[in-house]
Amino acid sequence: MTQLLEKVIALSKRRGFIFPGSEIYGGLQNSWDYGPLGVELKNNIKQLWWERFVRRRDDIVGIDPAMIMNPKVWEASGHVKGFTDPLRECKKCHERWRADQIGDSCLNCGSKDLSVARNFNLLFRTFLGPIEDSSAEVFLRGELAQAMFVDFVNVIKTSRVRVPFGIAAQGQVFRNEITPGNFIFRTREFELMEFEYFIRENEWEKWFEYWRQEMHAWIGLLGIDSTHIHEHEISKEDRAHYSKRTIDFEYDYPFGRKELYGLAYRADFDLKNHMTKSGEDMSYTDPETGDKFVPHVIEPSFGLSRSVLITLLDNYREDGDRVYLKLPPRIAPYKAAVFPLLSNREELRKKARGLYTHLKSQFSVTWDDRGNIGKRYYSQDEIGTPYCITVDFETLEKDDVTIRFRDTAKQERMAVKDIDVFLKNNIA
Ligand code: GAP
Repeated sequence: MTQLLEKVIALSKRRGFIFPGSEIYGGLQNSWDYGPLGVELKNNIKQLWWERFVRRRDDIVGIDPAMIMNPKVWEASGHVKGFTDPLRECKKCHERWRADQIGDSCLNCGSKDLSVARNFNLLFRTFLGPIEDSSAEVFLRGELAQAMFVDFVNVIKTSRVRVPFGIAAQGQVFRNEITPGNFIFRTREFELMEFEYFIRENEWEKWFEYWRQEMHAWIGLLGIDSTHIHEHEISKEDRAHYSKRTIDFEYDYPFGRKELYGLAYRADFDLKNHMTKSGEDMSYTDPETGDKFVPHVIEPSFGLSRSVLITLLDNYREDGDRVYLKLPPRIAPYKAAVFPLLSNREELRKKARGLYTHLKSQFSVTWDDRGNIGKRYYSQDEIGTPYCITVDFETLEKDDVTIRFRDTAKQERMAVKDIDVFLKNNIA
């Protein structure tokens, strides 16, 4: 199974999905850069999420908050004190480990001489402006959620949302993880997509169940086999202090069953907390009944980087010596590739180029005229392009092309005039 991870990492590098960060200087402790195809895949997943959870709904609005917030936010939220992992240091080789991830010996040198566990805070610290003292110390955000609470009053004043409603955001977050690893599974900067769904307290179970189902439906859109997903009910002892119920959605990674997403009922902890600490009234008044209350909140949280990882792992296929990514067409980097059958025949190139330019104004398509046709198919399969369109000599007479399907490797003839509609109907 770990072979699968190695194959996906190799393909990601070879084809420009994901490269090691700062590679020419020897990399930087499990940091990764998204290449030309990776950024397309990641952006397609991001847009699909926004489309589904924000744009198509009447009850969720989006925000794009600053990455650096007033440090009082992180004090109020409990992150400055409590956003920690237990750390143990090996006294022999000085390697540092997360206490909950090792037994009683160092994973590097095997020594059992380990320090007692101490709490290590995961927030990244930096300084705002030219003075580097504690008065200028700030944190890079460790989650998006706090901005949704801090902006709550501005959102209800400026949009027409009424409880129940949600505030969503997507973006980069930073956590100074003790042991990053497993490719993009655990890194020190990653992208999150999450929303806070504000409700009346007596409806929390109904909404928790509703979002639980919606999260499963979303995972299906990434082409993931549902038998690889498992719900893990977090026990009272292991839940965050503010949460009255949390489910982790876990995935069967090649390195074991581990967290993918989280769904938490955070009650009214955050709004009440910010209300007390900032002195601002953060209650909501029902415009019909005049009822004034502090809403409770359900939080579905989706790691974007982990979404990219499971999309690559779960859609990786080998069929003989053919490797293909069975990506759902709407998230594939390219929807189609256009080829002239022979690259040295000007009449074929001209016709194919015309079709390519026409399609490119509407869809994400790519061009290839290198090598033979078999190699070009192989190359598009590997990056998950669902359709390959070849202009050949028959095209010049009949104005039709060969269209080849990634998942079956079967081919059909299709009239050039029908391609636009075909792609429109088959990439959604
Ligand atoms: N606002 C809730 C929150 O931030 P979390 O469980 O700490 O909850 C949410 O993180 C999601 O972020 C996780 O379910 C996972 O998908 C992703 N995630 C967490 N730490 C990560 C890391 N170091 N690298 C990549 N993704 C991570």
